[in-house]
Amino acid sequence: MRKKFVAGNWKMNTTAEEGVKLAAAIAREAGSLPSDVAICPPFVYLQTVASALKGSRVALGGQDMYFEAKGAFTGEISGAMLKDVGCAYVILGHSERRHVIGETDALINKKMHAALVAGLLPILCVGETLDERESNRTMEVVGRHVREGFKGLSAEAAGKVTIAYEPVWAIGTGRNATAQQAQEVHAEIRGMIQQMYGPAIAQAIRIQYGGSVKPENAREILAQPDVDGALVGGACLKADSFLAIARA
Ligand code: PGA
Repeated sequence: MRKKFVAGNWKMNTTAEEGVKLAAAIAREAGSLPSDVAICPPFVYLQTVASALKGSRVALGGQDMYFEAKGAFTGEISGAMLKDVGCAYVILGHSERRHVIGETDALINKKMHAALVAGLLPILCVGETLDERESNRTMEVVGRHVREGFKGLSAEAAGKVTIAYEPVWAIGTGRNATAQQAQEVHAEIRGMIQQMYGPAIAQAIRIQYGGSVKPENAREILAQPDVDGALVGGACLKADSFLAIARA
């Protein structure tokens, strides 16, 4: 049985003070949650938020990282730096990085390798745009994101990855995928992992759904057999709604 995993992606939100309050409120309740939980604050608040999480079972994650280990890469953050401040996870290939910042599958794959070398657990985001869904190219696009994201990863490394299926049209729009739409894509992704790495890894790997997850829709989506958790944006900025999703 896969344990559910709910992660909050704070994106470019909160002040340091708000971040600490939010983290502390989640940490206080975390002991009673049935799922694994992680929060991913902005880089500059990781260390302060880490102190607020100390002793709790809430894991910390970065929202991105660079693939080089160190050196002259102005403005970038390495996997080792994320580890150093207490991160267990790192989100890679989020749709905002793919579509706003322009990250390619090749770049994201380099980051996947670098994250694993640094001892981080990647959360690889994949998902189609509205245009791609409407022209029946969902699995072509999601399939490419998965294949290219995992390129060159050993089975052992692949087993450390969480996949987040996040249809771009559902992110921040209030328009979530239906439970059935999510289940369909999740099952296809698991099938791909089975072809690439065999049944044991396919059965163990966690596939989160992301895109307008709220307390009101979390239960139905999370009840799907291949939905193993959620990557939450907007609704993770309030402790109550994030905790309600983690309880769903
Ligand atoms: P949302 O964002 O919950 O605000 O739609 C999800 C995400 O981008 O991970």
